[in-house]
Amino acid sequence: MIGIFDSGIGGLTVVKAIMENLFGYDIIYFGDTARTPYGTKSSETVKKYALENTEFLLSKGAKIIVIACNTASSVATESAAENFDIPIFEVITPAVELSINTSHKPCIGIIGTRATIKSGIYKKKIKEMNPHARVYSKACPLLVPLVEEGWLEKPETKMIVKKYLHPLKVRQIDTLILGCTHYPLLKNIIQKKIGKKVNVIDSSIAVASNVRAFLEKHQEVDALLGKKGRCGFFVSDVTEQFEKTATSMFKRDIHLEHVKI
Ligand code: DGL
Repeated sequence: MIGIFDSGIGGLTVVKAIMENLFGYDIIYFGDTARTPYGTKSSETVKKYALENTEFLLSKGAKIIVIACNTASSVATESAAENFDIPIFEVITPAVELSINTSHKPCIGIIGTRATIKSGIYKKKIKEMNPHARVYSKACPLLVPLVEEGWLEKPETKMIVKKYLHPLKVRQIDTLILGCTHYPLLKNIIQKKIGKKVNVIDSSIAVASNVRAFLEKHQEVDALLGKKGRCGFFVSDVTEQFEKTATSMFKRDIHLEHVKI
């Protein structure tokens, strides 16, 4: 099974991308809805949550782990890799690689939660790959609650997105990384506000192709994964909003199982 976790509903964008890239693979998802948001918490707390979430997914039979949450990927990947002897994927590196490979200038913008932007991880990784790249980032703390509320098309949301993107737009970025699991759900608005010439990178798609490439190369790991198209959804708090969003994303009824972490 492929184990995927996020702080809440946002990681479903990663589940969807993995389902599309790795058709038929068994997936187990954990959304930490009781402890969300991670983006406003200290890195120590997020690390602790990430280890607990990984342990839970392993206990359910996961053989590889995808940290779908950008905040957890930013601050907890190293400690997860130190503590568990299985392949662990995070969403930052694949998005950075894609941005470096596609940005012509290169002039790259990043948007994410406060914790992700404060960690400076995207900038660090981009500069490691290309020291000449210009990098600008902007924390967008209001976007997660707007997505959680389902305010995907509201004029207020459009206005807030425009305001957040303004400082990146004036820098004339040619690539924008969506550094938060929730933002792909606002991709149309973000693309409109940043301008159609800007390449908007969805880290969920980037990580899905990364996992696929890894499994193609590592048949011994691939052989451990079930491929019966099963998908289990676990949450630490069952919320109506999660069920609504999951059902509308997958266009079928999603049954959520409650688990105490
Ligand atoms: N899942 C988080 C991320 O991708 C956003 C939500 C949160 O703050 O927990 O950064």
